[in-house]
Amino acid sequence: NMSEENSGNLKKQLSKLFEASLRETVPSVLDVEPLVAACTAKFGDYQCNNAMSLWSKIKGKTTDFKGPPAVGQAIMRNLPSSEMIESCSVAGPGFVNVVLSKTWLAEKIQKMLIDGIDTWAPKISINRAVVDFSSPNIAKEMHVGHLRSTIIGDTLARMLEFSKVDVLRRNHVGDWGTQFGMLIEFLFEKFPNFKDVNETAVGDLQAFYKASKQRFDADPAFKEKAQKAVVRLQGGEPKYRQAWAQICDISRKEFDKVYQRLGVHLEEKGESFYNPFIPGVLEGLSNQGLVEESEGARVIFIEGINIPLIVVKSDGGYNYASTDLTALWYRLNEEKADWIIYVTDVGQQQHFDMVFKAAKRAGWLPANGSMFPKASHVGFGLVLGDDGKRFRTRASDVVRLVDLLDEAKTRSKAALVERGKAEEWTEEELEQTAEAIGYGAIKYADLKNNRLTNYTFSYDQMLNDKGNTAVYLLYAHARICSIIRKSGKDVEELKKTGVLVLGHPDERALGLHLLQFAETVEEACTNLLPNVLCEYLYNLSEYFTKFYSNCQVVGSAEETSRLLLCEATAVVMRKCFFLLGIVPVYKI
Ligand code: ARG
Repeated sequence: NMSEENSGNLKKQLSKLFEASLRETVPSVLDVEPLVAACTAKFGDYQCNNAMSLWSKIKGKTTDFKGPPAVGQAIMRNLPSSEMIESCSVAGPGFVNVVLSKTWLAEKIQKMLIDGIDTWAPKISINRAVVDFSSPNIAKEMHVGHLRSTIIGDTLARMLEFSKVDVLRRNHVGDWGTQFGMLIEFLFEKFPNFKDVNETAVGDLQAFYKASKQRFDADPAFKEKAQKAVVRLQGGEPKYRQAWAQICDISRKEFDKVYQRLGVHLEEKGESFYNPFIPGVLEGLSNQGLVEESEGARVIFIEGINIPLIVVKSDGGYNYASTDLTALWYRLNEEKADWIIYVTDVGQQQHFDMVFKAAKRAGWLPANGSMFPKASHVGFGLVLGDDGKRFRTRASDVVRLVDLLDEAKTRSKAALVERGKAEEWTEEELEQTAEAIGYGAIKYADLKNNRLTNYTFSYDQMLNDKGNTAVYLLYAHARICSIIRKSGKDVEELKKTGVLVLGHPDERALGLHLLQFAETVEEACTNLLPNVLCEYLYNLSEYFTKFYSNCQVVGSAEETSRLLLCEATAVVMRKCFFLLGIVPVYKI
């Protein structure tokens, strides 16, 4: 049943209708993809743009039509009748404009209120996805780049989960590499009885890393020991494995503090996990004739790229690429993922491009990159400070992410106290709201711009209660909740007994935007662009504001219907917040 299949997605439903019409209009042209888009002009709500390209295909072969406008007229005439359409018209060179029925729109919104917003979830035709995100490196700093990856990756995972895709949220931590020889040897030196080592003993792991690096660079004897330690670790010697595990554990606890504050859940499968699989995978690739010798290293050449992908270094060791190729193999073959998504800064774009192309050469991935199984790199730009340079809190020191998050919370709490909330609310309410706003502000500031552009980190901007910020949006949501609360009506009851009507033009505009939620999430999810959802959410609050300033809700003749429209707006806003990883606020 096709209307059930696309229950929330207006664009898809209209596309189905136009598909039928196109088949009828030009039976000779097979498989025409309907081109349906939301209108920006005032002629209608949606537009079908097939007439011109169809005309160029049939021109000279038929006498049925005189030109694109006639094709447009025919497309309109052949449109199956449907309750969703109120009227159609043809404009210019054959654009078919559709005005949707406001009765139908209103019914759909009311149905969503009863059946739940999950009925508006996108339909994505895959079973499982891997989202590889956050992925900091053990004993090194978890920096703002990792914060961006964590925030963007979490949103993408949430959108896929909402679309009923089984998502493996993978933390591909850097827990394997030559630096561990140095760290372990330094640990043994500082703590001969290394079993006593714990977090406080090692203190700041980054400082520990720096100190051991200094030792490594200054003392050749130490350097040699460190290099031997790597071999012993990789050979699986228990004492070395144990020391390694301890170092990882200390780092992990630091990372977890960040995840816990952000409410982000990840499952760690670090680089070390894939290590045992590397030889077998490389052997397979060698047997296929893909691996060649170059300057002592073993490499894979990629068409169109002048440097090869090094998979075994000249010293015989494996590297980042060996691990990523193997991880990709594992995810495709062992985990049976249909879509593998990597969230890192754009600086790693070429690395992933090469890994994916190697996988295509090997036949692991289809040559046509838009087909499943598919691998996608989700790149993002830099985080800048006020000075336009790479973001740092203090001139020399690195930014501790935990401090960054705490600062946002502290500032949002101060703003609430200033507005007298300390007297009005319990301490718990104050804390929770400050947290929701502070962390929400950081996430939204990151997500609202196209991820490829650099963004400037500014507490003042992100915590502003005006403009396109999380604070503004959270307040807008809280205000809607308070309208409903103050009406004294039981919305659950109204959903069943009341009738939603979109009488006023501003009600209709809001209603239409609400119904465009499904196609928006689907677009954000399939194109891996969280900013599309942010823009939708911001516009939603604008439509609501317009409606609320022109239509009286409480005490009006349309009170019931308008309360339902308020409720639907709040429900959709909350789902957007949820998908963006932002905790909603109910009072302000
Ligand atoms: N650890 C890497 C870094 O900090 C990111 C890893 C991303 N994931 C991957 N499969 N390579 O830059």
